[in-house]
Amino acid sequence: MMLNIKTRNAAGLAALASVALIVGACAAVDYGESGKVDYTKMSAEELGEYLVMESGSWNMDQEVQEGGTARDRMTQDAMQKVCSETRNQPSPEQAGQIIADARASIQYPEGGIRLGDWRNGRDLSWGGFGFRIVHNPDDHSLREPSGNCYNCHTMDPARPGGNLGPSLTGYGAQRGNNEATRRFVYEMIYNPHAYFPCTAMPRMGAKNLLSEQAIADIMAYVLHPDSPVNR
Ligand code: HEC
Repeated sequence: MMLNIKTRNAAGLAALASVALIVGACAAVDYGESGKVDYTKMSAEELGEYLVMESGSWNMDQEVQEGGTARDRMTQDAMQKVCSETRNQPSPEQAGQIIADARASIQYPEGGIRLGDWRNGRDLSWGGFGFRIVHNPDDHSLREPSGNCYNCHTMDPARPGGNLGPSLTGYGAQRGNNEATRRFVYEMIYNPHAYFPCTAMPRMGAKNLLSEQAIADIMAYVLHPDSPVNR
């Protein structure tokens, strides 16, 4: 369970959240009265939970930028609990509920879903700046929070990208950018649980991680014919 502080970002947080997902279902660890712990008696999951939540390596009481503390952020919501308890295989009823909740969370821009500036979207797709739990929290007055899409997706084939998610190279070239496609991509960025109940992709809109303009710019990067993603 390696968490590299330097690369922690939106996707890192998602990975972190999934650490919490995995350990959430496990029995609580007894750390003993002295506060000393016996690592040899812990399962891998318990050790992971201990290192992340209790060892003091991170200050879980620090305030985070969306409000509340780091510990609040690491506490599973109902959807995460279901996904972790079912190992990402929710029953049809559970999946239906997650999808319904996700759909209800989506707010649409006034005047319709449009494409913004793909150049800015390129920077925002690449960057991991924003809501990291670090010793010097990302100052939003210095720089706009970004989407970190490359951590999980290949986009411009000239740049390295992750493979946790499918490649988005040529996405707009293959699908165009009509109303239905724009709506799907918008909803995926806003709250992908509307389509994939236990997805690893973050809820960038529903969690207020990206502004409406940032989503429009990233959408342009994914869909606009002039974007390097589609050339
Ligand atoms: C933590 C990893 C992660 C991050 C970060 C991430 N995604 Fe995803 N994305 C996924 C996964 C995984 C899927 C596939 C859905 C699934 O199976 O869960 C996906 C699916 C998609 C799809 C649908 C692809 C299709 O087949 O139609 C789009 C579009 C997309 N992501 C765009 C983005 C954009 C834009 C960003 C940045 C704002 C982003 N993603 C950030 C993991 C991620």
